[in-house]
Amino acid sequence: MKFLMVCLGNICRSPLAEGILQHKAKAAGLNWIVESAGTNGYHTGEPPHHLSQKVALLNGINISNQKSRKFIAKDLNEYDIIYPMANDVLQDIKRISGNTFNSQKVILFLNEIFTNQNKDVPDPWYGEEDGYHEVFGLIEKTCDEIIKKYKTN
Ligand code: 4NP
Repeated sequence: MKFLMVCLGNICRSPLAEGILQHKAKAAGLNWIVESAGTNGYHTGEPPHHLSQKVALLNGINISNQKSRKFIAKDLNEYDIIYPMANDVLQDIKRISGNTFNSQKVILFLNEIFTNQNKDVPDPWYGEEDGYHEVFGLIEKTCDEIIKKYKTN
């Protein structure tokens, strides 16, 4: 399976989702590819936000080697599942992907734990460290469900 986690800047939320799902898939013995991208491209080439890095590391996950990249239409063909972290990101994905958009592959991330509720992972970008811890917890819980849903026994 090949997964793509997507947020706006690809420096706060989706790098955490990439790192956490990679970590859990590896621990479960799953040979999954997990990557991430951002719809706005403002931070292309940058590593994750220092607070995302810090909170990940406090939880035993090193995400310092990631680099922000912009989401492109071709990503719809490259991945099995694409997870927007929020509704605004889903709208951006639809706009950027145009004809290549495929509603079977694009699932709002928190719908994996809050079915059909269309909730957003809050953007911690404007806040303090506690917001990053909250987001880590939400993403971790959702990644546990993703492992259960897609692992094949
Ligand atoms: P992210 O947070 O989408 O979780 O990476 C953001 C980071 C930067 C910006 C917006 C959101 N920005 O506009 O620069």
